[in-house]
Amino acid sequence: MSGAPWYLDCDTGIDDALTLGLLVAEGADLKGIGSVSGNLSSVGGARNTLDLMALMGRPDVPVAIGAHDPIGGVFGGGADFVHGANGIGGVELPRAGEPVEESAAEMLVRLAREHRGTLRVLAIGPLTNLALALELEPELPSLVADVVIMGGAARVPGNVTAVGEANIWNDPEAASAVFGAPWTVTMVGLDVTMVARFEEQHRVALESGGAAPAALAAMLGVYFQYYTPILGRPSCALHDPLAAAIALGAVQPTLAPVVPVEVDATEGPGRGQTLVDLRGRFVGYPAVPNARHRVVLGIPEGFGDQLLQTLLRLP
Ligand code: BDR
Ligand code: CA
Repeated sequence: MSGAPWYLDCDTGIDDALTLGLLVAEGADLKGIGSVSGNLSSVGGARNTLDLMALMGRPDVPVAIGAHDPIGGVFGGGADFVHGANGIGGVELPRAGEPVEESAAEMLVRLAREHRGTLRVLAIGPLTNLALALELEPELPSLVADVVIMGGAARVPGNVTAVGEANIWNDPEAASAVFGAPWTVTMVGLDVTMVARFEEQHRVALESGGAAPAALAAMLGVYFQYYTPILGRPSCALHDPLAAAIALGAVQPTLAPVVPVEVDATEGPGRGQTLVDLRGRFVGYPAVPNARHRVVLGIPEGFGDQLLQTLLRLP
């Protein structure tokens, strides 16, 4: 597993909570975690992150509160219809620890300078903090090793609008800045996260694990309620954990072309769309310039089983 230092940026709802579990169970060297408004407010997300990290035996990882509002906009209030009112399915965890003083963007810049060239960035919420960090430190792209995001949709519909995936749609200006910066972004979007699933047997198996797996199972009840009519049976998509598993190398994509990606940040119906330039799939099409982003379009089967076994290692 990757021994690199990590900065995680998240909006700790239910699939973010599963991701914290995955990262802890895999022993990822988390140097800091920043929260951002998305599934819930950045303050609420930081609270959930602190409480979950303590439950999972890692109360030592610093947590910074990040941006409340998107770049140039106002936070829309979150997605309690997906993740429950407190973002984690109404599950009440013992309160643990306090956030650090610095903002998430400041934390990211500081960690990038301290771990020059080796810091890996995993972003599983709206990209506001990353965009703010780029403003604070324009050299950031040369200071970090790479960026992996959960977000976007290349060849499938959006989940907020016809073309907009939630993390991109919640702050298209930030996403545009992140995809436009000169660093390598791996995009793990709805193309693959909608086919990575927990089924009822996974949720039930988690219930009989330790305190952390049992808490995750309790949250999943609410997440399943949202996804059951969409997926046709009690189950859920594993958006953020899949991005983390790919970032860690625990899942190897079966298809992940390096292509240009732009984000529509206009006010039209395409707002929030990731425009993934796949013209190169046509044999003989001239090389498209500025191909820098790795877009995951295929994954092996069985990620739900793999994630379950990993999460059952938690206390
Ligand atoms: C993304 O939106 C959030 O609700 C999830 O946590 C995930 O990061 C999926 O579109
Ligand atoms: Ca998320």
